[in-house]
Amino acid sequence: MIQAGYRVPARRFPSARKAFLQSGWPGRRNYAEAEVCRKFADVPKLATQKGNDGARDLESRDPRQHGIRRCMHGLGRATMRAFRDEAALLTRVVSRVKMDTPHATWPTGSEYLVRLLAFIFIELWLFPWQVLAIIGYTAKVWWKTSPAKISGTANEIVTARLLMHTAGTRPDQPTARLVPHLPAFGTVIAWLFGSIGLASRWSGYKPSWTEFPVTLPSVMNSMVGHRTGFFDRVLADAIDPKGRHPVKQIVILGAGWDTRAWGLLADANARIFELDMPPTQSAKRAALEGAGLPADRVTFVETDFAAKTWLQAIVERGFDQALPTFFLWEGVTMYLSSEAVDAILDGVGRLAPGSRIAFDFLSRELLHAETPFEKLGKLTKGAMKFYSNEPWRYGISTKPPVREHVERIVAAHGLELADYEPFGPEDEAFGGVTVAVRRS
Ligand SMILES: C[S@@+](CC[C@H](N)C(=O)[O-])C[C@H]1O[C@@H](n2cnc3c(N)ncnc32)[C@H](O)[C@@H]1O
Repeated sequence: MIQAGYRVPARRFPSARKAFLQSGWPGRRNYAEAEVCRKFADVPKLATQKGNDGARDLESRDPRQHGIRRCMHGLGRATMRAFRDEAALLTRVVSRVKMDTPHATWPTGSEYLVRLLAFIFIELWLFPWQVLAIIGYTAKVWWKTSPAKISGTANEIVTARLLMHTAGTRPDQPTARLVPHLPAFGTVIAWLFGSIGLASRWSGYKPSWTEFPVTLPSVMNSMVGHRTGFFDRVLADAIDPKGRHPVKQIVILGAGWDTRAWGLLADANARIFELDMPPTQSAKRAALEGAGLPADRVTFVETDFAAKTWLQAIVERGFDQALPTFFLWEGVTMYLSSEAVDAILDGVGRLAPGSRIAFDFLSRELLHAETPFEKLGKLTKGAMKFYSNEPWRYGISTKPPVREHVERIVAAHGLELADYEPFGPEDEAFGGVTVAVRRS
C-alpha cells in the first residue's frame, strides 16, 4: 500500500508550533524544531513581519500594472523567504540534540549540512536561469493563459508533482511528459523548473516541497505532497481487485493537469471520466496529443460545476449510475461556491452504494485570515492573486473538532466519513483530506 506520510508525535510546545505555522515555516515538526524555535523566537517573528509586508504589497497593488520591476520585487521576496525557511530548517536539524523520535531516514546533522551546501552550490549555477524561467512563465500566465481562462492553479499543482518527479521522491513519468506541452510552460521552462528537483536529487537535500511521502503533520509547502500521497493511497485501494469494493468507474472532478489516468490508473480495470471547464480541458487535450499520451484512455466531459449539471453531463457520456464509482476531487473545493460543493456531494450521495468521494478542503479561518491564521491567510492570498484569477471561496471551519464538522457536512448528503487527515497539526489544521462513502 502506498504510504501517505510518516507521522511524528504531537509536539509539546504549542506556542512554538504556532509561531512556526503562522510564519509558513516548512519542514519537519519535532522536538528539536520546538527547541530551536524557542531559542530563536525572534527569527520567525521577523520572517512573519516581512512576509506580511510582502502580502500587503501583493494585495494592495496589482503587479500587472507595475510591470517587470514589480514582478522582480515579488520574486525577490519569495526567494529570500524560501532561503530563510530552509536555513531555519538546517538550524533545527543541526541542533537536534534531544530529538526523541528521529525518523529512520533522518540524516545526521553533518550529512544534512553537506547536502544543503551541495544543493546551494548546484542552485547557484541554475538560479539565474530559473529566474528567467519564472519570468517567462509569469508572462505566459498573465498574457496568454489567464486571458484564455485556462486554469492557473492547475499549474501550481503540476509543478509540485514535476519537482517531486525530478527529485526522485515520487516518480511520475506522464507528468514529466505533459508539462513541456502545457500552454504556460514549454520545454525550456519545464526543464528549468524541473531542475530545482534535480538539484534536490543530485545533492540528496530534500526541501519540504520535494519531500515524498511527506513528514506529518504537513506544512503549507508540503500540502500538495501530503494530499497527493493520500489520494494515491485511497485510489490504489479503490481499484484493488481484491479490495472490499473495487470500483468500475473513476470520475476526476476538476482534473486540471492530473495524469493519474496514464500513471497509477494506467492498468486499472475501470472507465475514467475527467471533468473540467472547457478552456482548461481543451488545453489539456492538446497537451496530451503533443506529449503522445493517448487521450482515449479518458472520457472528457466539459462542465462548469457552478451550473450544477455535472451528473447529467457524465450520464450523457455513458456514465453508469448503477456502478460503484470513485470520485477524485483534488484541489478544487476551495474555488467553488458552497452551493456548487453541495451539488457535487448531493449527486454522489444518490449514486450506487459503495461509491465514494475523496476530496480536500482548506480551513475557513485560513480563507478569511482569521485566528489562528491571520498571517498565513494574508500571505497565501497575496501569492494566489499574483498568479491566478481563481479566488478561494469555500472552506470548512477547522476549529476543533474538525472531524465532526466534516462528518456533519457529508452526512447531510447521505455520505459517511471513512477517512480524514488534517493538513498541519490536529488542533490547528489549515485544511484536510477526506474520503466519504455513500451509505448502503
Ligand atoms: C488546483 S486545480 C486542481 C487540478 C487537479 N485536480 C490536480 O490536482 O492536479 C483546480 C481545477 O479545478 C478546475 N475548476 C475550478 N472551478 C471549476 C468549476 N466551476 N467547474 C469545473 N472545474 C473547475 C480548474 O479548471 C482546475 O483544473
